[in-house]
Amino acid sequence: MKDINRIIVTRRWPEVVEKELCDMYGDIVQLNESDQAMSQDDLKQALCSADCVLPTVTDPFDAEVLSVDKIRCQFLGNFGVGYNHINLDAARAAGIVVTNTPEVLTDCTADIAMTLLLMVARRAGEGERHVRTHAWSGWRPTHMRGSKVSGKVLGLVGFGRIATAVAQRAHCGFGMKISFYDPGYNDDGKAEKFQATGYATMDELLAHSDFVSLHCPGGKKTYHLIDRQQLKTMKKSAFLINTARGDVVNSQALINALKNGQIAGAGLDVYEGEPAINDGFYDLENAVLLPHLGSASEETRVAMGQRVVANLKAWANGEPPKDRVV
Ligand code: DGY
Repeated sequence: MKDINRIIVTRRWPEVVEKELCDMYGDIVQLNESDQAMSQDDLKQALCSADCVLPTVTDPFDAEVLSVDKIRCQFLGNFGVGYNHINLDAARAAGIVVTNTPEVLTDCTADIAMTLLLMVARRAGEGERHVRTHAWSGWRPTHMRGSKVSGKVLGLVGFGRIATAVAQRAHCGFGMKISFYDPGYNDDGKAEKFQATGYATMDELLAHSDFVSLHCPGGKKTYHLIDRQQLKTMKKSAFLINTARGDVVNSQALINALKNGQIAGAGLDVYEGEPAINDGFYDLENAVLLPHLGSASEETRVAMGQRVVANLKAWANGEPPKDRVV
């Protein structure tokens, strides 16, 4: 049993999980009542003053933050599946255990990928703006023709949990043909289940797909994986969907491609440098822009919090946390 005297939660959580945490650990829990994102200095101070810090995807625990002197923290329980905001080598070097929250957000994130795909193909954002600005003059055969979704080829970059849930929805619900590029794919029967075609290179996938949906982790290895050249490789009629991480796509290259008709459209839930968004996106009718809503359902956010609490509890009891990444 670990001796824990202070736990810092970096952002507000759904009330029920804040309560669960406080019921379990009492007044050693410090919540972030204001829900303001913590600064680099605040994060350093948290590491030095608490035994456990429970951050989320907006908290950059980079090498600098994690190399602060006199770290007291031994446990970073991330509220989120992605952990590219945490420098794992630096955490390891500081002797900190890191956990995340996989599985519980798979369905909701896949739903948002499909939402973006459908919205951008069928011009739903644009159509809604059209109605709300009183611009609609009525039905006509030529009005706002989008792109049919059923039967089209969906190319998945990465074929992990969320991509599989997208494949399920797209193939079984919309009769889409599934393709994928995943250098780490180990044949677990998924390809067969969805009659999916695997490509050996991403370029081949990009060239063959009507929709490309990104499902790779963020971080150095995937930084600007989709850049000018890759966008050029896509079909002019194709759409790019990003529910992964913003910096997987070079945003300026994407803006240029959307403006020049290099691709037909994009559906984005994540952005390079978010919450700042490259201004170039705002005027593009062929871009659907959501504010990182992938996991944002009541049920999922509660489940994510409960997963953090379960990981913390296991670690505190000297047991291996289920979702340990370091
Ligand atoms: C995550 O958990 O990494 C997501 O981006 C949050 O929705």
